[in-house]
Amino acid sequence: MCKGMEVKICLIGMGNVGSSFLKLLKEKRENIIDKFNFNTKLVAIFEHDGALINSNGIDIDNLLMDHSNLRKNKYWISNVKAQDLISTLEIDICIEATPTNPETGEPGLTHILEALSNNIDVISSNKAPFYLQYNKIKNLADKNGCLVKFEATVASCVPALSIRHNLIGNTISRIRAILTGTSNYILSRMTAEGVSFSVALKEAQELGYAETDPTLDINGYDTAGKLVILSNELLGWSKSIEDVSIKGITEITPHALELAKLDGYVIKHLAIAENDNLLVEPRLVKRESPLNVQGTLNIIELQTKYAGSIVIMGKGAGGFEAGAAILNDLISIVKERENLYN
Ligand SMILES: NC(=O)c1ccc[n+]([C@@H]2O[C@H](COP(=O)([O-])OP(=O)(O)OC[C@H]3O[C@@H](n4cnc5c(N)ncnc54)[C@H](OP(=O)(O)O)[C@@H]3O)[C@@H](O)[C@H]2O)c1
Repeated sequence: MCKGMEVKICLIGMGNVGSSFLKLLKEKRENIIDKFNFNTKLVAIFEHDGALINSNGIDIDNLLMDHSNLRKNKYWISNVKAQDLISTLEIDICIEATPTNPETGEPGLTHILEALSNNIDVISSNKAPFYLQYNKIKNLADKNGCLVKFEATVASCVPALSIRHNLIGNTISRIRAILTGTSNYILSRMTAEGVSFSVALKEAQELGYAETDPTLDINGYDTAGKLVILSNELLGWSKSIEDVSIKGITEITPHALELAKLDGYVIKHLAIAENDNLLVEPRLVKRESPLNVQGTLNIIELQTKYAGSIVIMGKGAGGFEAGAAILNDLISIVKERENLYN
């Protein structure tokens, strides 16, 4: 891959995130050509039941008009799997956006390892492979001279991971973060309205902020996975999810929140990385603390040696939010490759 070149990509998983990424790619295509001097050619899209593969490039407009055009396309091949075909594709970057099995990291883990084994750079929005097998992925990428980027896995396009490039001369001593909008929405509503956990959860589900099965959000597992990725990337650690002490928010009562309020505190579901320890648990936070964010917002506070506390905050979920992170990763891979070759 070099300046002015066509960058060939494949997408695994054209769901909410995958199709939002394609919409952004279409919207920003001219801008990318103008500003970064490269064009992208999408040569393959994999879904769970087959693939659309066209080495001349897939017509994104046609697919975005109607998702069902994917399987109607003459290049659609039923019943093939990404892991069996990645090695046969001539591509520069593989984008992984399938749903995660939180215990195995599959199918994403196999897709990522297969791409890296074939010297293909990887972008992922899929977090489980990284909180389960961070070292394995990184080591394989290093061994094969590949780039692997996964900004979307932590807080979508809030630049939680890429901020490290601006902090190379600084030292981060602690991370405190709120990384799951669902828990934060529930606690915010319980604090503001005095409603019970179950009422706030139901409300979050009705508004589409919580999954039908919200277990991984409210028991802290999802946040723990993100914390592992964040601390490995920003603090240079080599942790996995077993290293995190995890407590959920299901035991928090309106009474506990009321008592906290009387003393000028709120309770937040915090992810903390400090002194080689990782933990996710409900914690008292001063009402005036920047961590006292409302609703579904994510926030990351980095305690640094030379700039004190640095805080970044924003919407940590949503198709376009994650799609934008993938697009950023794509541009930064192309730029890094350019620097390597020039
Ligand atoms: N949505 C967000 O806000 C967000 C934000 C950040 C990160 N993420 C992560 O990004 C990933 C995708 O999320 P999403 O919201 O786009 O999920 P989604 O809407 O469920 O889309 C997932 C897509 O992957 C396809 N798929 C499933 N198994 C596959 C396989 N074995 N091979 C190829 N394709 C397969 C699905 O096809 P079928 O529907 O046909 O099964 C679907 O098109 C997840 O890991 C998620 O955790 C999501």
